Amino acid sequence: MLRRLSLAVAGGLLLTSAVAGCGASDEAGSGGNSGGGGDDKITLGFSQVGAESGWRTANTKSVQESAASAGIDLKFSDAQGKQENQIKAIRNFITQRVDVIAFSPVVESGWGTVLKEAKDANIPVILTDRAIDDPDTTLYKTFIGSDFVEEGKKAGQWLVKEYEGKSDPVNIVELQGSPGAAPANDRKSGFAEVIKADPKFKVVASQTGQFTRTDGKAVMETFLKSQPDIDVLYAHNDDMGLGAIEAIEAAGKKPGTDIKIITVDAVKDGMTALSENKINFIVECSPLLGPQLMDLVKKAKGGETIPQRVITKETTFTPEQAKEALPSRQY
Ligand code: AHR
Repeated sequence: MLRRLSLAVAGGLLLTSAVAGCGASDEAGSGGNSGGGGDDKITLGFSQVGAESGWRTANTKSVQESAASAGIDLKFSDAQGKQENQIKAIRNFITQRVDVIAFSPVVESGWGTVLKEAKDANIPVILTDRAIDDPDTTLYKTFIGSDFVEEGKKAGQWLVKEYEGKSDPVNIVELQGSPGAAPANDRKSGFAEVIKADPKFKVVASQTGQFTRTDGKAVMETFLKSQPDIDVLYAHNDDMGLGAIEAIEAAGKKPGTDIKIITVDAVKDGMTALSENKINFIVECSPLLGPQLMDLVKKAKGGETIPQRVITKETTFTPEQAKEALPSRQY
């Protein structure tokens, strides 16, 4: 009898986890929430973009570890880079009546309908890492993450300084992030805004490398074949820059010397390449959003007023600064 009962309980738990799966991979958290478990633990439904980069891996770890230490029950769903998976995950979180929903949007547009459903269900939504372009800011409580336009500007400012006093044309190739994603749009526009003041800077090719090392390498190979005279590579993240370095080396050129390289993120692998002078400059984008996010989750659940925008503090790195920072780098 007792055995049959514990099997039934185990079956019930499995069912709860399966519902949390949302058709994408469900990696952490299940059990007691205000909707299902009956204890007073806060339940957070979190939909992650995927696992495309070192940055993303560090961000997922930060969210999972911070939820555990804040005593928050995390239902984690990996969208595998697809907006439809995120929409499905958010709908599942609404059905489960989680306390708070947080997500890092794969793309900027197309969120109005599902976020209206969350609002109608009285579930507060927090945007983390990436923004959406919906003008209705009542659809979410707050947005915590970097200023991506500013990151693009910092990349452009370094370039302007690097070529100060020189008049020869500077041919730039650009590896963009995944199409439609806020960091791809904003890092592109911020960079373009700064370099447009001087006509010697020419973006001769610009294509997506999907924020991945593999695509960064493949696209750089095509750039090297189609562009005879590349002076600078601007990659929207470290991973694409690292893939491009492989392509540059395979083409018999010296990354950082024959082609100057600027990237964004400052994950350990990127910082190592910077310290070896294979990358010339990195704009930091911090993935360690977990602790602040959990704070906001608690406040949102408690009905406290929270700022509409929380901007992450970030810096930039030269090779010398990378050497200094590497020993204590967390990600
Ligand atoms: O949204 C943050 C960006 O997404 C990171 O810069 C990039 O590495 C990631 O994939």
